[in-house]
Amino acid sequence: MVAALRPGRRHLLAAAATVAGALPAQATEGLRSIAARHGVTYGCAVQADWLQTDAVYAAAIAREAAALVPEGGAKWWDLRPAEGRFDFSALDAITGFAAKHGQVVRGHTLVWHAAMRPWTEAALEAGPARARRELEAHLDGVLGHAAGSIRDWDVANEAVADPWNSTELLKDSPWLRALGPAYLDLAFRLARARDLGLTLTYNDYGCEHDTPHDAEKRRRVLALVRGMLDRGVPIDAVGLQGHLHRDAAFSAPALASFVRSLRDLGLAVLITELDVIEPPEPSDPAPRDAAAAAITHAFVSTVLEAGGRAVLTWGITDPYSWANTEPAMARADGLPGRPLPLDAGFRPKPMWHALARAFAGQPWP
Ligand code: XIL
Repeated sequence: MVAALRPGRRHLLAAAATVAGALPAQATEGLRSIAARHGVTYGCAVQADWLQTDAVYAAAIAREAAALVPEGGAKWWDLRPAEGRFDFSALDAITGFAAKHGQVVRGHTLVWHAAMRPWTEAALEAGPARARRELEAHLDGVLGHAAGSIRDWDVANEAVADPWNSTELLKDSPWLRALGPAYLDLAFRLARARDLGLTLTYNDYGCEHDTPHDAEKRRRVLALVRGMLDRGVPIDAVGLQGHLHRDAAFSAPALASFVRSLRDLGLAVLITELDVIEPPEPSDPAPRDAAAAAITHAFVSTVLEAGGRAVLTWGITDPYSWANTEPAMARADGLPGRPLPLDAGFRPKPMWHALARAFAGQPWP
């Protein structure tokens, strides 16, 4: 269950008045400026085609987000459609939009086990020399192209094994099979060598909740980054994806201690892919939104209080969320999920208010 926050009675009443009172139909001020006032960067994942074809979506992104991350567009699948070829069209559309609206862009992601075309998988299977050549060519092409527009990259994504199906530190992946466990060190070293000023981030999921699996995942992520630092590998930040499971156990002290351990290693910590994944019950939107807001507030407040300074949600509006577009993520009862800050009409949901209050250091009733 969500750890109870214990606001003072005065705060509690003030918060209750704000939340229970009429929520504004349209946000007058975006989360980006609310967050900025409190020293926090708020942003979200975007897709280039929606920015280009949906003016209401584009306006919401301009109003709400100070940071963008391509939901696709900067994965191998998109950037490397064929051997020897780069396609920067989606990425350029996003960085162009960001430049126009005074937003920064995070890169996601240089090395991942997923989202590669068959030619890439075949190249990685062709042996370590070929794999290394492809990695170097990728970093040359992508970091070179985006040097002026992206200063923070998820160098590696989801490399740590899942405790429910492996006792290993690293997840099975084409990169691991091609280059062995040193592939992560290599990717971070190559990235730093190409651009000394880039923020190099390790990004992963499954560290958020108070479950035995998440506790073990936190232990493994810490072990991974400690090992990298001991070996002198350049790493600057850890991204916690934050795909929250609405009804899973949450402990602020457990999460705060993890974030502080990372901070003590000199690493920045940010939330990179926040959304709320729902179980099939109930169907009424009001209790679902209330529960999503509560866990969002608890999670974000905890990370910010422990020293995190940036929060990105994995999209902005419910219908465009991967929770609704990916069949594998669908609710068992077929109802659309409500994982993001804005509803289908781009109106702020309780989750939006939970974020605003967490950014301001205010409690949630
Ligand atoms: C997801 C996108 O949201 C989908 O649109 C795409 O089809 C598959 O990838 N963790 C990550 C993201 O790091 O890259 C994933 O994004 C969601 C889980």
